[in-house]
Amino acid sequence: MNLPNINEARKRTKEKVNVYYDKYKINDKLKSLGKNKKYTILTYGCQMNVHDSENMSGIMEELGYTKEDNFEKADVIILNTCAIRENAHNKVTGILGRIKKLREDNPNIITVFAGCMAQEEGIANMLKSKYKWVDIVMGTHNLYSLPSLLENAYKDKKQNIEVYSIEGDIIECLPVKRDSKYKAWVNIQYGCDKFCSYCIVPYTRGKQRSRLPKDIIEEVKKLKEEGYLEVTLLGQNVNAYGKDLEENYTMANLLEDVALTGIDRVRFVTSHPWDFSDDMVNVIAKYDNIMPYIHLPLQSGSDRILKKMNRRYTNSEYRELFNKLRKAMPECAITTDIIVGFPNETKEDFEETLKIYNDLKYDLAYTFIYSKREGTPASIMEDSISLEEKEERLQRLNELVNKYAREANEKYLGKVVKVLIEGPSDKNNKVMGYTETMKLVNISADESYIGKIVDVKITEVKTWSLEGELV
Ligand code: 5AD
Ligand code: SF4
Repeated sequence: MNLPNINEARKRTKEKVNVYYDKYKINDKLKSLGKNKKYTILTYGCQMNVHDSENMSGIMEELGYTKEDNFEKADVIILNTCAIRENAHNKVTGILGRIKKLREDNPNIITVFAGCMAQEEGIANMLKSKYKWVDIVMGTHNLYSLPSLLENAYKDKKQNIEVYSIEGDIIECLPVKRDSKYKAWVNIQYGCDKFCSYCIVPYTRGKQRSRLPKDIIEEVKKLKEEGYLEVTLLGQNVNAYGKDLEENYTMANLLEDVALTGIDRVRFVTSHPWDFSDDMVNVIAKYDNIMPYIHLPLQSGSDRILKKMNRRYTNSEYRELFNKLRKAMPECAITTDIIVGFPNETKEDFEETLKIYNDLKYDLAYTFIYSKREGTPASIMEDSISLEEKEERLQRLNELVNKYAREANEKYLGKVVKVLIEGPSDKNNKVMGYTETMKLVNISADESYIGKIVDVKITEVKTWSLEGELV
């Protein structure tokens, strides 16, 4: 048993990051562990979790399990959890209740509690005391040990908690079963060292560590050979990519090298304004296959709040970067994340957020009410703002988000744009896909176009999507 520890999770040393190519190994016996058995993975949270789930799927398939979409029919249920906000907790406790019921009929179901919530002290302790029937609790650092944890679970029905609050290493060569045949997630960096005062990620995912450029490029080349059309480079703070490498190699270098593989579309998330270099702006503008879409979290428009959030930029520095991007790429879509109701955010602070939003007119924003996360510096800040007030602010902000989302979409009416068609649309006889700028388009076309990048004329505009026809 290994329980998480917040003080260990907080530590950052200068210790070298190890890159392992052989941590994940399974013997022939393990390859039949899942024979005639089915697994489901329920994934919560960000793209990093989505991709971790693809790795866990890859592992499960190598163990001989087959995928089952309905968790009620699965022999192994894996919860890949998210800790970013409190509401994620409620969802997971709800699902645990349902699994407990299923176990009454089938006590052989194995439940695996994985992901960021497992890295929280309070959660691991809760599982240990109140949910003893959860077979395996594992964190974000040890996906590779899933086979041995499962093997043990069949032998010994005792709960096994294996969560490590470590800075972390880089584990290469995990198997992967991707959700899409056309778009792929590619990790370029793990962890985060920014320690924004509200955020739990630096504690749940360890220190910032960059994958080696050669491993990333090799993965992208292979994906291209397999027919993938799009890669999204993933990290909590991708602009800082390379800062922890021995060689002098930056995110701008990586973007350029990935673009030079010739893959049709390159995207990256998430950017922190602090590390967005001019070199990066130039490379993004230079290569047609680096998509003109940037997600640039603002969090707040108030300098006072930004300081308390430990964001390391001011309102005017953010605007300067935003305008630089707009100037270099006038067609670029820019989206953001905003938190309302940070501890003691005043009306004036919030007005600053509305003001910058009105000025910059984002394509889209993901907006959240501040959620207190145990162990973070913001969790002990005084907060006298009522939830009601916070909800009202969120609603006012969302009205702006909707207004400018629609305005941004309206610019597309009558235009011809490139769309990667991904699959059938919810609507009858249509297919769906995304533009280079990440706008969702529903298109009247048959399914033979799925997996192709086609020219589409936009015929109708809605707030959250576009309608189009093939040209
Ligand atoms: N409360 C609310 N929102 C949060 N985010 C991160 N931590 C919190 C929190 N404690 C938001 C930020 C981040 C996005 C992924 O989630 O806006 O950019
Ligand atoms: Fe959290 Fe800030 Fe790191 Fe993003 S940059 S993961 S908000 S600490």
